[in-house]
Amino acid sequence: MKLFIITGASGGLGLALSELALSQGDLVIGLSRRSVLKHENFYPLKHDLSRSIGLEKKLDQLLEKLNLRRVKSVHLINNAAGIEPVGLVGKLSTEGIQHQLALNLTAPMMLANYVIKRFKSKAFITNIISGAAVKPISGWSLYCSTKSGLRMFTECLTSEGVKAISFSPGIMDTSMQATIRKQKPKDFDRVNEFKEYKDKDMLLSADEVATLLMSLLNAPDSIKKVHYSVND
Ligand SMILES: NC(=O)c1ccc[n+]([C@@H]2O[C@H](COP(=O)([O-])OP(=O)(O)OC[C@H]3O[C@@H](n4cnc5c(N)ncnc54)[C@H](OP(=O)(O)O)[C@@H]3O)[C@@H](O)[C@H]2O)c1
Repeated sequence: MKLFIITGASGGLGLALSELALSQGDLVIGLSRRSVLKHENFYPLKHDLSRSIGLEKKLDQLLEKLNLRRVKSVHLINNAAGIEPVGLVGKLSTEGIQHQLALNLTAPMMLANYVIKRFKSKAFITNIISGAAVKPISGWSLYCSTKSGLRMFTECLTSEGVKAISFSPGIMDTSMQATIRKQKPKDFDRVNEFKEYKDKDMLLSADEVATLLMSLLNAPDSIKKVHYSVND
């Protein structure tokens, strides 16, 4: 049996991954501000991940209550992230910059640190990144930079002997894409292109992406590199 700790378990890819993990008999701790799943093996931990303070204590308290004797591996999936604020550098607020860095980069690093400290060689870290980690996109400087940072963090983890991968899911039909389509062209000049992806039905479903990632995580011996994408 595996224990999954999945951030952003209340929607999009995180919800799809949580449902899959539960359907294969694993335990799931779901971290997000809302909780939508109900299952005997699902343990919601409501927390705003843009504020990591206090999270370790909440995790300690929850883990104490769980029977982990049958757990052979502990998978942290750092999935929660935000795209906003979107806009050109010079027009961003300090609060917005701090928020996106805290959610997209500090929280995943803090959680990886916690899981490795607590579960040592049983820990496996999956960091959900994006094509934007390696491609500059005007208006998305914070998103590109945080995903790029998370990509490098994954490489650093493996250099320290930790089992870790990054996974780039492709463009999925989730609330993050809806947020992208709502941006003003002055903040994000490619907004019409993203509206077209939706109109032309070019988006992947979170369920199909989750199935691909889960099949990779279920076959750890097949993992031979650090960075994976949905196209692999
Ligand atoms: N969608 C795409 O096209 C796309 C493309 C490339 C990469 N990705 C990456 O894939 C991952 C999943 O994206 P998605 O599209 O599934 O996103 P999504 O539908 O917007 O879902 C985001 C999840 O993160 C949680 N979340 C957001 N802010 C939070 C906060 N402050 N504290 C705690 N939880 C928070 C949300 O839960 P609550 O609202 O309940 O807190 C929700 O469960 C992200 O890392 C994203 O960067 C997505």
